[in-house]
Amino acid sequence: MTEKKATNITWHEGAITKKDRERLLGQKGVVIWYTGLSASGKSTLAHAVEEKLFELGRVSYVLDGDNIRHGLNKNLGFSPEDREENIRRIGEVSVLFADTGVIAMTAFISPYRSDRDQARTLVPEGRFIEIYVKVPLSVAEERDPKGLYKKARAGEIKEFTGISAPYEEPLKAELVIDTSELNVEESRDVVIDFLTARNLI
Ligand SMILES: Nc1ncnc2c1ncn2[C@@H]1O[C@H](COP(=O)(O)OP(=O)(O)O)[C@@H](O)[C@H]1O
Ligand SMILES: [Mg+2]
Repeated sequence: MTEKKATNITWHEGAITKKDRERLLGQKGVVIWYTGLSASGKSTLAHAVEEKLFELGRVSYVLDGDNIRHGLNKNLGFSPEDREENIRRIGEVSVLFADTGVIAMTAFISPYRSDRDQARTLVPEGRFIEIYVKVPLSVAEERDPKGLYKKARAGEIKEFTGISAPYEEPLKAELVIDTSELNVEESRDVVIDFLTARNLI
């Protein structure tokens, strides 16, 4: 648990609310949380959804694992503690995005159930959509677009999810998308249809 260090801090409530910003943008601020093994298709799917939303005139933004580790989270590695802190920060950042009225999408392995559930608690009911991007490990390993599984099998990467570090499957994801069965377009449409059905776009 990350310790709160500052004292004497007071929340400042602005006159413009999330509702106001949502009205301005004509959309709802939500967090779409993609989780799954490396190479399951989180980044590909999130960006495909972003493109479709853009076409539909909706503002979204993808917070993508490796990109965030270049900046905001560059001081974090892959130990259990650092993974937890990585996800904690992303949870907080995605809430800030959603608070602006934007559709925030996070594409992180986020292997621990407790970390994802913690992120969920930050978002109002119905505005956190957990998507389990599911794929058999054998398929992810075969895809291996970054050659990471090969390195992990060779012992060159320690604590690699699915090989030498755990992945805890979601128990109550809003959507489960098996990318070994659906192609990118079909997967994207499952997400778009869900957002439409829930009146979120
Ligand atoms: N339905 C699908 N959705 C997303 N990616 C898919 C799908 N089918 C095959 N792929 C491929 O799987 C790989 C997934 O890589 P990537 O999106 O980087 O995964 P992750 O971000 O989960 O590590 C890509 O090479 C992509 O083309
Ligand atoms: Mg990715």
